[in-house]
Amino acid sequence: MNTSEPTLLSDRRGCLIALEGCDGAGKSSQAGKILEWLQEQGIRAILTKEPGGCPLGDKTREWLLCGENTLAPETELLLLFAARVEHIRTVIAPAIEQGIWVVCDRFVDASYAYQGAAGVETRYIDQLSQWLVEPYQPDLVLLFDASPELLAQRIHNRGAADSMESRHGNYHEKVRSIYLGRAGHCPERYRIIDAGCSIAQVSAALYSILLDWIHRND
Ligand SMILES: Nc1ncnc2c1ncn2[C@@H]1O[C@H](COP(=O)(O)OP(=O)(O)OP(=O)(O)O)[C@@H](O)[C@H]1O
Ligand SMILES: [Mg+2]
Repeated sequence: MNTSEPTLLSDRRGCLIALEGCDGAGKSSQAGKILEWLQEQGIRAILTKEPGGCPLGDKTREWLLCGENTLAPETELLLLFAARVEHIRTVIAPAIEQGIWVVCDRFVDASYAYQGAAGVETRYIDQLSQWLVEPYQPDLVLLFDASPELLAQRIHNRGAADSMESRHGNYHEKVRSIYLGRAGHCPERYRIIDAGCSIAQVSAALYSILLDWIHRND
């Protein structure tokens, strides 16, 4: 190893780990466990989420998920990126620059998957992402994957569906396929997790992936 150039993990910059995947895949159920596991490894880390993580993000979440959301997908995209800019500026960037790792429950890939599935062309999302998210693209994306049928059952069991969850037709299949397509194009940055397993099995798979990824980048 060339010791004159800091590697990803020995660098003082913190890492950004995004949790992605369709509604009900189990991201939020695992987010706190991932945080705890990182802290047990001696890594300073925080947990945040999108939309959310800052006041504009919280308002955006409320609006997007409420039953009155009849916004055009382009409007949703711009609102999400506006909130993302504030989230990066006030939470993500300050942590990363202090060497703190950030676990983010959904991030920029969700815009590609959800607004992409609703019809927004990828090139516009690419432009916003390059303009507004660099240099805070995720170092690692953990993609929770399971069949839409299984996830629909979980969402049903969880309670009333929000406006995103209750979209019909093949919307969720499209979301899944965009996520898998992005992971396929960049395997070094993405890890696909079989989210159809039990909560304990998913946790074990995540810890193993994280351990391997930490060793590779150390
Ligand atoms: N591996 C699992 N096996 C069975 N049930 C699970 C599993 N993971 C999560 N669940 C349950 O499925 C539901 C959805 O999980 P969770 O809220 O963590 O998903 P999510 O990916 O965060 O969804 P969303 O994208 O809608 O926020 C919850 O009721 C949760 O208890
Ligand atoms: Mg969640």
